[in-house]
Amino acid sequence: MSTKLVTKTNSRLKGEIIIPADKSISHRAVMFSSLAKGISRIENFSKGADCLSTLGVFKSLGVNAEFKDEKTLIINSKNGIISPKNGLDCGNSGTTMRLMSGILAGQNFNSVLTGDESLSKRPMGRVIKPLELMGAKITSNEGRAPLNIFGQELMGIDYVSELASAQVKSCVLLAGLHANGTTSFTEPHLSRNHTELMLEYLGAKIPNFSAISESKTIIEKSELTPKTITVAGDISSAAFFIVAGLIVPNSEIILKNVGLNPTRTGILEVVKNMGADIEILDKKIVSNELVGDLKIKYSELKGCTIEGNIIPRLIDELPVIAVLATQARGTTIIKDAQDLRNKESDRIKAVVCELKKLGANIEETLDGFIIEGKTKLKGGVEVETYHDHRLAMSLYVAGLICEKPISINGFEWVNISFPEFEKIFESCM
Ligand code: S3P
Repeated sequence: MSTKLVTKTNSRLKGEIIIPADKSISHRAVMFSSLAKGISRIENFSKGADCLSTLGVFKSLGVNAEFKDEKTLIINSKNGIISPKNGLDCGNSGTTMRLMSGILAGQNFNSVLTGDESLSKRPMGRVIKPLELMGAKITSNEGRAPLNIFGQELMGIDYVSELASAQVKSCVLLAGLHANGTTSFTEPHLSRNHTELMLEYLGAKIPNFSAISESKTIIEKSELTPKTITVAGDISSAAFFIVAGLIVPNSEIILKNVGLNPTRTGILEVVKNMGADIEILDKKIVSNELVGDLKIKYSELKGCTIEGNIIPRLIDELPVIAVLATQARGTTIIKDAQDLRNKESDRIKAVVCELKKLGANIEETLDGFIIEGKTKLKGGVEVETYHDHRLAMSLYVAGLICEKPISINGFEWVNISFPEFEKIFESCM
């Protein structure tokens, strides 16, 4: 385990930062390119451990994948995927396990999905249930990994989900890609729609797809066409720089190549609402996804309430938004975020426990937090990451404004999504 000492930054944050590749889009790029028979090219692929887990799974399924340079991946899937010899290791990645179960349930071979200690504790019933309704045969450890998938012919269904979850939605749509007939997925609020956008880009039949407002998606059995996919920068990684830029006095930074898919930009709406000086400089479409640059300046902030249908649009940013709220005047209430307890750690408990150690005024509720600001964070303590990359990075950002240095135990977990995190932070100090 590595411990990272973070000391209050003496300098403001300044300069231009290129935000590395989006994790969600990188996973999907490997998955869908492997399903598209032929040669595909993925540009700006994320080399975070989670995306490498997905790549490893497809190599075990017989797909030929090679890096042409640091970030360009060529996928050669001439014969599609074949029966694996061993279990398929999803590592720490919930996205890999949940989306793979949708892909594998309809194949003509059996497979086993395994994960690390954290992933083996996370709920998989949410994907097993709709897949079984489609005719899938899956056994599990009481709704948890390992998942034994016995490939079956699947039938399309109309599934109405209680959860707004892109992982569940993607699982059902991917099963629908191979199922007989038509499959639909309806969710209470629209979750991230990278699956729909990329499947459409690769030629899948998604009738009446209107990218931003619909919370019902339909897919028909389809073949995918291999193409070049350029992965946008990850707004969830940008979030740490957005928050740091807003709370480290006198900062002014430009974040380049940030994915601005409206199903992911909840954080931008929230910080604007809190009084942030943040500007979108340039927008373009890259491989069916909206991308742009952001300019962020240190700002005086006020508390706000974050609830309802915005939650799935900023779910992964809530730990670092909690750090931000400690520096906003008044009360910030975050609710309707109970699923935070099912992430890489119980992020409600973990965030409250660790930010309290730093001196924050934060309380746990069943489905979120209540934070009073503005609080001077004292620091001078050891904090824990709970094997959770977003905890590690959120605590690092908090450390930049703590009066005394903090020691972050298990800092190496940042490698799950953002191996370049520290190097990029240091470049703008
Ligand atoms: C993801 C969806 C979200 C998110 C996760 C990545 C995806 O999970 O928290 O980090 O790539 O589809 P849920 O869909 O379970 O909310």
